[in-house]
Amino acid sequence: MADSKFIERYRTLFVSQLEAKSKKTDPENLYEPITYMLELGGKRLRPILTLMTAEVFGGSADEAMDAALAVEMFHNFSLVHDDIMDDAPLRRGKTTVHEKWDLNTGILSGDAMLILAYQFFESYPPETFKELTTLFSKTALEVCEGQQYDIDFETREDVTIPEYIKMIEYKTSVLVAAAMKMGATVAKASNKEADAVYEFGRNLGIAFQLQDDYLDAFGNPNTFGKQVGGDIIENKKTFLYLSSMEKGSKEQQESLLHLYSIKPKNPNAKVQAVKSIFQECGAVEATKTEIKSFTHRAFDTLDMMKISKTNKKVLRQFGENLMQRTV
Ligand code: IPE
Ligand code: IPE
Ligand code: MG
Ligand code: MG
Ligand code: MG
Repeated sequence: MADSKFIERYRTLFVSQLEAKSKKTDPENLYEPITYMLELGGKRLRPILTLMTAEVFGGSADEAMDAALAVEMFHNFSLVHDDIMDDAPLRRGKTTVHEKWDLNTGILSGDAMLILAYQFFESYPPETFKELTTLFSKTALEVCEGQQYDIDFETREDVTIPEYIKMIEYKTSVLVAAAMKMGATVAKASNKEADAVYEFGRNLGIAFQLQDDYLDAFGNPNTFGKQVGGDIIENKKTFLYLSSMEKGSKEQQESLLHLYSIKPKNPNAKVQAVKSIFQECGAVEATKTEIKSFTHRAFDTLDMMKISKTNKKVLRQFGENLMQRTV
């Protein structure tokens, strides 16, 4: 993804602060996995959005920095636990925390990251602190609900597309939306503006998770950084799967139902078979259309917002870049 200069500027600013502000070392087995996870990098999309939104509403990236740090810390916590739940071997091209150390380490280091995330809010004055933590707690609970739906869906055969959209809204998009709203809150934007930017982030976040599902099956294994086919191996009811079940022939539907009821030791044949069905029945095209549709819904909200043309362009560019991403 060739990011624009302004995105790169936010990323550099953010990473320098992240390094400066995560210095705890003892006990090693608690903090080393945290540092490991944070140093694996990642795209830093959510904190970039917090900083960017603060500036869009006339605030400064500096004042929004602690909220951005909280959001990224929470995101990384959720990934450590998500990788346990998804039995994932790879994250950002490296071994996942629970595989490199062990399950208990993943659980406790994850817990500590969640607490560290909340601590970043302590630097805000009482009123802002309350607003930020209220939104944060609501969001964090929704993420848990989304994660539970995601797991429940693995073993359900009757998941619908609206249920799936609600699941990804909760597990992924509310954090993207909250990341932006926090930037607006810190910048003292009006409630109306803060709600509009939340809505923008919510739709963009849904598009983002649809794309994540697409890449999980069709990303390039050399650059994607996660195990390609991981969702198929885990029988995740993604949009690719659900739209195949709508569009596929009777035969394709029966094959998929069967393939999604097994967990073979060597999953390669299963992954290949499933991917062929996704492609042949038009689910890949449908997923791409859905990604565009949610991105454009986000852009519609943007069009209605009372911010400068330049700022609209900044946010729009961010959304366009997300659609082009390969990692
Ligand atoms: C991964 O998020 C988890 C999802 C919600 C899809 P990212 O794709 O933003 O992960 P990193 O932080 O860039 O690695
Ligand atoms: C992750 O969804 C959502 C959260 C971490 C809350 P995924 O399970 O699809 O994320 P990846 O693909 O492992 O990054
Ligand atoms: Mg996962
Ligand atoms: Mg998951
Ligand atoms: Mg995924």
